[in-house]
Amino acid sequence: MSGLYIHIPFCRQKCRYCDFASFAGAEALINGYLSALEKEASFYPSFSADTLYIGGGTPSLLSAAQLEKLCSLIARRFAPLGMFQESTLEANPESLTKEKLRLLKDAGVNRLSLGLQSFDDGVLKRIGRVHDVKTFLSAYGAAREAGFDNISVDLIAGLPGQTKEMFLQGLKKLTDLKPEHISVYGLQVEEGTPFYKEGVQADEDLLRAELEETHRFLQAAGYVHYEISNFALPGRESRHNLNYWQNGEYLGLGSAAASYLNGVRRGNVPDVREYMRRIGAGENPAEFTEKLTGKAKEGEAVMLGLRMLGGVRLSDVQKRFFAGEIQDLVRRGLVEQNGDFIKLTFEGMFLANQAFMAFVGPFEEACS
Ligand SMILES: C[S@@+](CC[C@H](N)C(=O)[O-])C[C@H]1O[C@@H](n2cnc3c(N)ncnc32)[C@H](O)[C@@H]1O
Ligand code: SF4
Repeated sequence: MSGLYIHIPFCRQKCRYCDFASFAGAEALINGYLSALEKEASFYPSFSADTLYIGGGTPSLLSAAQLEKLCSLIARRFAPLGMFQESTLEANPESLTKEKLRLLKDAGVNRLSLGLQSFDDGVLKRIGRVHDVKTFLSAYGAAREAGFDNISVDLIAGLPGQTKEMFLQGLKKLTDLKPEHISVYGLQVEEGTPFYKEGVQADEDLLRAELEETHRFLQAAGYVHYEISNFALPGRESRHNLNYWQNGEYLGLGSAAASYLNGVRRGNVPDVREYMRRIGAGENPAEFTEKLTGKAKEGEAVMLGLRMLGGVRLSDVQKRFFAGEIQDLVRRGLVEQNGDFIKLTFEGMFLANQAFMAFVGPFEEACS
């Protein structure tokens, strides 16, 4: 499997918790950015992908004409969107118009990922979202009317001003809409964001309680909890993201986009203007490239695989490299081992970052 990711780094306004490489008030750059994307795509004439993910930022912020331009450059350089096994576009409720939905459907987009974050207007305002719940509901309804039968919705647990009861009521309202896929992320307060500057702190106990209830409630509602933050109706898991966790190859185009090709990880510069300048000047847009080898490479593969709640099958080399670490994780109750398989325990699901530390270098010695 291989994936193609395209980053659209523009947003109407910056949400107060968001640390993603996205910028508000830079719409004037969009047309030039699309041309830069086309040029970067031309560096990979023989790359072919099974899945496509157009993420951001806010891809739905593009005008209908700009979305058309984006879809046709992907079709020209890679494949028509309908030819991918899965082609997802990330969208924010306020900018997903009927015209854009029709265009995207006709172009072959077959999956939408909608950012709701909370089912409470007060919370949405507090966290700096542009939309309210009504706008979300009408975008969701319009997407269904336009024929989208694979929709994912994002929520954030642990938001300030949101009690556990409010969160769970929201989750219930969301499942009443029967989206095929739900992502529930625990709030992370990142340095440099308005939340960080305000001193917002994630309440770890509340977060844990909300995530535990989410796990129980969504499983009872028929969703498979298949990755730490992701739930899907059977068969509706995100194929594009599964490829990441299975350590598959992917090409990322655009500012801040990451790639993993031929064992090399690469990340493009996050600054949009610098990305466009480099592409225009024929320079390499990558800010870093690294080729992982030995224990670091195997550790990364195990760590990615552990994100999937079904677990990961260890190769002989991985078992040899990490025998001690795995034994320790099992002793601490974070991981369980069954033959060649390891997976997070129920407890480990909520303390996954602690489990992942065991597989992250630098390692003192490399064995072979
Ligand atoms: C690439 S982001 C944004 C997608 C889209 N622009 C939106 O806002 O809906 C994907 C998701 O990450 C989650 N997210 C972003 N920042 C977060 C944070 N600081 N803590 C927890 N979740 C976060 C949100 O649920 C968001 O929908
Ligand atoms: S959460 Fe989404 S809409 Fe908000 S700033 Fe981040 S990328 Fe943009």
